[in-house]
Amino acid sequence: MKKKPLLFCLAILINGLVLNAQVFNILPYPNKLEIGKGYFDLNTTIQIVNTIKDPMVTPTIGILKEHLKSFTQLNPKKVNASFEISIDPAITNNEGYTLQVAPNKIVLKGNSPIGIFYGVQTFLQLTEQFKKSKNIPAVYIQDAPALSYRGLMLDVSRHFFPIDFVKKLVDIMAVQKMNNLHIHLTDDQGWRIEIKKYPKLTEVGGYRNGTIIGKFPGEGNTNQRYGGFYTQAELKDLVSYAATKFINIVPEIEMPGHASAAIAAYPALSTFESEKKVQETWGVFEDVFSPTEYTFNFLQDVLDEVLAIFPSPVIHIGGDECPKEAWKRSAFCQDLMKQKGIKDEHALQSYFIQRIEKYINSKGRQIIGWDEILEGGLAPNAKVMSWRGEAGGIEAAKQHHDVIMTPIDYCYFNFYQSTNPKDSIAWGGFLPLSKVYNYNPMPKGLNELDATYIKGIQANLWTEYVTNVKLAEYMLFPRSIAFAEVAWTKQKPGFDHFVKRLVPYLSQLKANDIHYSTQLFDIKIKSKLNEQKTGFTLQATGVASPAELIYEMSGKPLTIQSPKLVAPLTVSTSANISIGALFENTVVNEVHAEFTMNKATTATVINTTTPDPAYNQSGAQGWCNGIIGSTNRFNDGEWLGFNGKPFETIMQFNKTESLQNVALHFFQSKGSWVYLPKTVEILSSMDGVNFTLVAKQANFEKAKDGKFTLNIATPVAQAKYLKIIAQCLDKIPAGNAGAGSPAWLFIDEVMVN
Ligand code: ACM
Repeated sequence: MKKKPLLFCLAILINGLVLNAQVFNILPYPNKLEIGKGYFDLNTTIQIVNTIKDPMVTPTIGILKEHLKSFTQLNPKKVNASFEISIDPAITNNEGYTLQVAPNKIVLKGNSPIGIFYGVQTFLQLTEQFKKSKNIPAVYIQDAPALSYRGLMLDVSRHFFPIDFVKKLVDIMAVQKMNNLHIHLTDDQGWRIEIKKYPKLTEVGGYRNGTIIGKFPGEGNTNQRYGGFYTQAELKDLVSYAATKFINIVPEIEMPGHASAAIAAYPALSTFESEKKVQETWGVFEDVFSPTEYTFNFLQDVLDEVLAIFPSPVIHIGGDECPKEAWKRSAFCQDLMKQKGIKDEHALQSYFIQRIEKYINSKGRQIIGWDEILEGGLAPNAKVMSWRGEAGGIEAAKQHHDVIMTPIDYCYFNFYQSTNPKDSIAWGGFLPLSKVYNYNPMPKGLNELDATYIKGIQANLWTEYVTNVKLAEYMLFPRSIAFAEVAWTKQKPGFDHFVKRLVPYLSQLKANDIHYSTQLFDIKIKSKLNEQKTGFTLQATGVASPAELIYEMSGKPLTIQSPKLVAPLTVSTSANISIGALFENTVVNEVHAEFTMNKATTATVINTTTPDPAYNQSGAQGWCNGIIGSTNRFNDGEWLGFNGKPFETIMQFNKTESLQNVALHFFQSKGSWVYLPKTVEILSSMDGVNFTLVAKQANFEKAKDGKFTLNIATPVAQAKYLKIIAQCLDKIPAGNAGAGSPAWLFIDEVMVN
């Protein structure tokens, strides 16, 4: 009988997860990992034996050699250990590899140079983890990606990023085994790719005369010229650089909407009569490409130059958010529709996309577009990026079109990520690291065959509020590292396991001058009323080890000398409490809780409506937990959100109370669909059945965005029960983001005195 190699004897393996004290800090985690016996000593002389002739493997060998130099002498004459690299046709996935680390011997096999590249990335992570001891524990890794398209998108139109930053992104993506970088090159706010036949695209379209200040709709305009573009030479260089790291660059040329910058340069592209300009604010603009022969010839010329720069098998043609008003008003468009039997403007968009698809297909490439390209009929060979949710992706997969899932709730890295009030200004939404990690790319409801059309996932960084590279890094990291594991690892070992591997990696991000978010150390405060109803116990959690919690009472600022928080705090009067996370001798995160004690905090809540699961972190009774929500953020984990539904509650006091005032806190952020209530009613009762209206207020339309405190006088001599009803605005008014949809209602502390 053939003896099983000793190497694998100690492995305890269940579903690819090692139940063993040793955690290998590999990101993304390999699909199979078995711990062996003994160690590979890095402090030795190693010979690299490469039997692969393909020149695509050469840069990878270069990376490996360079890396090993810092540990070992690479001296073939005095060999103690070998690093063997070869092709193994038995590995079926073209990106797959096996890596065996044994005493004095490392064997790396791949199906192709790509697998070898990924195997080397894994090996480099092992050396990083064990560089102090210079002993890598013996291990056998068998690895291949769950999904073939693992993408990241960078919007360079809203804000422009230097090509060196894009290359830096390529470097990190490669380490994380990501393989597609989609660059959103054109939009209303700037055209960023040199097109030789149409120089005005960058001369005029590459610059705007100002940018809105602050969050949309903004507080003025910078009135400063802003812009930039990539030359074709820079982009070609980027493409070749990325290819050495097996990253494909997917260019996006937006059409027929989001076209203001192109139209400002060449107004004949539009049917619209208004002033042409590169837009200075965010949103969706009515001025779109007209489906004329002039436009198609222009786009074909542009695409000829794009195709010559980017060898990508897919070319992104946008297709999202194209308002149809200009087409509806245009006699040319209406005639064209009659002539061609096009039934409506959605079908006209489909006609537009299909013409472009035909052209791109004739050049041997495929188109990919945002999920609006499904409307009016999908072009025959189009691939779909499902962004407005999963429905578009499901529909396209059922029609047997390839799909990249990028649903907004899980994949938009322009969303807030932290509950820390110092988190930068962001587009909206809330996408913390754990939510990214727990994303399941395979939507429910697809049969086995249809599911094969889900080819991958992509995270997107839209840059309206991402004004510089440091902020871009902050929004991308560490979320993109979690995302890479979603794309790569078939059975993720779980968020806690991921965090254990991520924390040591943070110092590598820092060493590579990458600014990352510390939301991993976000503090969650939970308050619990004591049994005597005389005060609260405050518990702070959520901070990953090795960070420690510190605190200050009565508004004192936190410092590294602040006392350690080792047991829950007790609060029996209103107070200002700060709790912080200390990591590597720095206060990396802090929360400041304004704490209130009043008749609502000690009442018994009898009935209350359920907040939306996306905004219920403080619990169904978060509105009377004593902690007042943030002044500048509705997604701080404290505020409760209701979408199109009322907030309604009944509280029972411990004894008959006389009441003077009810203070309610609401939030408004119109750009994020968050509105003040339509009406607020306060009712009192002595028996909990028969309620009398005490006060009703309405008409908050003129209120500004932000936290809104509504003080309502409640002159009631005797009350045992109090009912509060805040009705949500059921339709967002015309002319606003989300017009016609139900608004969100955000409420936090309700204070009864
Ligand atoms: C998109 O976010 N408009 C694709």
